[in-house]
Amino acid sequence: MKSLVSRLGFWVVVLAILSAVNCGQSKTDDAYVTLLYGDEFLLGVRVLGKSIRDTGSTKDMVALVSDGVSDYAEKLLRADGWIVQHISLLANPNSVRPKRFWGVYTKLKIFNMTNYRKVVYLDADTIVIKSIDDLFKCRKFCANLKHSERLNSGVMVVEPSESIFTDMMSKVTTLYSYTGGDQGFLNTYYSDFPNAHLFEPDLSNDAMKTRPVPEMERLSTLYNADVGLYMLANKWMVDEKELKVIHYTLGPLKPWDWWTAWLLKPVDVWQVIALIAFFIFCEFLCNFSLRIRVLSIGLHFLT
Ligand SMILES: *[C@@H]1O[C@H](CO)[C@@H](O)[C@H](O)[C@H]1NC(C)=O
Repeated sequence: MKSLVSRLGFWVVVLAILSAVNCGQSKTDDAYVTLLYGDEFLLGVRVLGKSIRDTGSTKDMVALVSDGVSDYAEKLLRADGWIVQHISLLANPNSVRPKRFWGVYTKLKIFNMTNYRKVVYLDADTIVIKSIDDLFKCRKFCANLKHSERLNSGVMVVEPSESIFTDMMSKVTTLYSYTGGDQGFLNTYYSDFPNAHLFEPDLSNDAMKTRPVPEMERLSTLYNADVGLYMLANKWMVDEKELKVIHYTLGPLKPWDWWTAWLLKPVDVWQVIALIAFFIFCEFLCNFSLRIRVLSIGLHFLT
C-alpha cells in the first residue's frame, strides 16, 4: 500500500515537472513559426514541433492559426509547447489561382511579427532533422532557390519589419504572382533573389561586421530538401548525413497519411518521429483516431 502511494507520488511529481516545462512559455528573441489553416495539417505541425525540440532548440515555437482550426487542435498544440496566436486570413487578390490558395497570402504576416528579432518560418509539411538554430544568423531575408530561379517559401528566415510588411501590403494587389499565391508574390517582391549570395552560417563575427548587410541571402538545399529531389534518383541528391530540413512537397502525398511510407522512403524519417512523439504523449491513450493511426504506423514497421 505504501509503495503504491509513493509510486503515485512519483508520477505526480513527474507530471508536475512536465507541465511546468510545457507552461513555462519563456519568451525568446527568436522564434520558429508555422501556419495552420485547418485541422488537416495538425499532425504535420505537431511532428514538426517535436522534430525541432529533438534537435535541442529552446527557441519559441509559434503556431499562427486561423479560424478553421478547432479548439481541440489548439489545446494539443499548446500541450506540445507551441505558442498559439490567432490571425485573420489575408484574402488572396488573384482571381486566377488554385482554389486551395484562398488564404495563402496570410503567410506574409510573418513579416509583421515585430515582437521577435528574427523568425524562421517552416511549412507544416517540413521536419527538422538536424539543428537549424544557425539560421537565426541570417540578416534580413533568407530562403531557398528551387529550379535555379524560383524562391521557395516553404522555409524562410525573416527579420520582421513594420515598414517591409506595410510595403508588401501596399503591393499585394499590384505585384504579379506566377503561382497565384504568396510564393509567386515573394518572387516578384524579391525579384533579385536568384542573384543573392549563399548564406554562410559559419562566417566569423568580424567578417560579418565588415560586410554590408545583405538584403537577401540564399540558403543551401540542405535547409529545404525536397522529397522531389529524392524521387528523381531514388536517393538524396545531397549528402544524406548533412540534411537539415526535409520538405514533403509532393501534392497530396503527405507523410501523415501512413500509407505513403510504402511509396516514399524518406517518409520513414517523419513517421519515426511521429511514432515516438505519440507514444510519449497521452493522446495515444485518449484519442481514438490517433491510436488507430499510430497502430497502423506501428504495423507498417512490423511488416
Ligand atoms: C501587424 O502588427 C501590428 C502590431 O502587432 C498589428 O496591430 C496589426 O494588426 C498587424 N497587421 C496585420 C495586417 O495583421
